[in-house]
Amino acid sequence: MRVSTGVDGFDELVDGGLLQDRLYVLSGPPGSGKTTFSSHFVTEGVRTGEKCLFLSMHETEDELTHDMSAYEFGFEKAARSGKFQFRNVFDSNAKRLLKGPGGNDFSSGVKNMTNRLVSFINSREINRLVIDSTMILQYFYPDNNEAFVQFLTSLKRVDATTLLISEMTDPTSYADEHYLAHGVVFMHNYLEGGGMHRGVQIVKMRGTDIDGDIHAVDFDDHGLHVRPDRKLEA
Ligand SMILES: Nc1ncnc2c1ncn2[C@@H]1O[C@H](COP(=O)(O)OP(=O)(O)O)[C@@H](O)[C@H]1O
Ligand SMILES: [Mg+2]
Repeated sequence: MRVSTGVDGFDELVDGGLLQDRLYVLSGPPGSGKTTFSSHFVTEGVRTGEKCLFLSMHETEDELTHDMSAYEFGFEKAARSGKFQFRNVFDSNAKRLLKGPGGNDFSSGVKNMTNRLVSFINSREINRLVIDSTMILQYFYPDNNEAFVQFLTSLKRVDATTLLISEMTDPTSYADEHYLAHGVVFMHNYLEGGGMHRGVQIVKMRGTDIDGDIHAVDFDDHGLHVRPDRKLEA
């Protein structure tokens, strides 16, 4: 089954939506629209009655709500609904969720955090999950690549459609998450001819016929829009 991302124009690039319960990586440089894309994604989830968890290390709930309230796609209302949960990893709440009480030991914490997050998703019956961003994992698992791979593998198995945001400035340097994910989407923004150009590119999407082109993206009062018929030169 496919679910809508809630991002105008995006679903038609991926046969109508994302395959449910799979793991997708959303990559791109700062300011390319990853957090906005993810906010559309959870708003759409709430709208269709799905339970959503937004796990961030970059913003507090107030900051995210403030930023997204600049748009009219209904994030604020969705965030206030009982279907939406937000955790900032530096909050004591999230620390309990990820590490357990007083847990400070990284080596034993590895399995612990993965298990805790997975059981949280299962017990709360979370349908959509956003993790903003993989930096969280580098923070919790410094220099522990094996733990990161374990974490990704567990995320692939949970019954939630997951967007894992991966900060990236070099689209040619792939990381573990790009290989492991069911799908990889790149958000582009670059300066050319005196202006900022924005685009989205579906690099990989298992089970889906994709074109790999960069399609134009723009922002307006309603948030982010993908223009499937407008292609950009890479
Ligand atoms: N109406 C708008 N028109 C153009 N750009 C906008 C508009 N509103 C916000 N932006 C910019 O869009 C970018 C999107 O940011 P964000 O989704 O946070 O990206 P990321 O998470 O990839 O860093 C921000 O840099 C913001 O300044
Ligand atoms: Mg962001």
